Amino acid sequence: MLELKNISVILSKGTINEKKVFDDFSLTINDGDFVTIIGSNGAGKSSLFNVICGNVSTVSGSIILNGKDITMLPDHKRARMIGRLFQDPNSGTAPDMTIEENLFLASGRGHWMSGITKADRDYFKEQLSTLGMGLEDKLNRPVKLLSGGQRQAVTLLMATMSKPSLLLLDEHTAALDPKTADVVLEMTNNIVTKNNITCLMITHNMQSALDYGNRTLMMQDGKIIFDTCGQERSELTINDLLTKFKENSGKEFVSDKMLLS
Ligand SMILES: Nc1ncnc2c1ncn2[C@@H]1O[C@H](COP(=O)(O)OP(=O)(O)O)[C@@H](O)[C@H]1O
Ligand SMILES: [Mg+2]
Repeated sequence: MLELKNISVILSKGTINEKKVFDDFSLTINDGDFVTIIGSNGAGKSSLFNVICGNVSTVSGSIILNGKDITMLPDHKRARMIGRLFQDPNSGTAPDMTIEENLFLASGRGHWMSGITKADRDYFKEQLSTLGMGLEDKLNRPVKLLSGGQRQAVTLLMATMSKPSLLLLDEHTAALDPKTADVVLEMTNNIVTKNNITCLMITHNMQSALDYGNRTLMMQDGKIIFDTCGQERSELTINDLLTKFKENSGKEFVSDKMLLS
């Protein structure tokens, strides 16, 4: 379970860009939840992930992950428990290293100098084959030679192989062409549900927000303005979401990349 309790966060403090992104913000995510997050540009979605990962520090409040207070834990220590994917397919992998080297580093299956064993290789092949992209035959290919979709797939595998307590996806399919985005989204859904990974997925695609996961959060101005699950959520349409947004924020939904289907 992830609990954010009464969090306040100020970015770029003391500069002309100073911004209080969160003021007494609280959120609880249950184990095994797959939560989709929508909201217009600047709503605070990525900042929320930065807070959870420890990339930005809190002024007050606490962050509890699986009963452990991680508020003061540095980001590199949280990284063992929290996997994160970004929009840019180049951000999650070491481009000059091969697929198997990337997987080896992410798997925690041994020290870098200890070398990759046949058992490691068989394991990586088995894992890669579940992606259905034929990457199990390309173990020695440098990641920089892969397509964007293939890279996100490898990054997804790297982020989930060691069963993180939490997986954070920040518009991880937004830079892919629509067809590839669908493939990666389906793959994501399979991995998350099969392994029962607790996952938060920011998406600009309202339909995906409703189609995937079991709960949807709508954010605006550093607040959750709509939180839905169960029967209510299953009956929602994109139009309902837009109406909710207007009702609860008093504004029209603005996103430079919002897709309505
Ligand atoms: N480093 C920063 N310093 C000051 N303000 C920032 C910084 N990063 C983001 N912001 C501001 O914080 C708000 C939330 O940004 P962000 O979390 O990136 O929104 P989203 O991911 O929902 O588009 C925006 O108003 C943004 O301009
Ligand atoms: Mg963002």
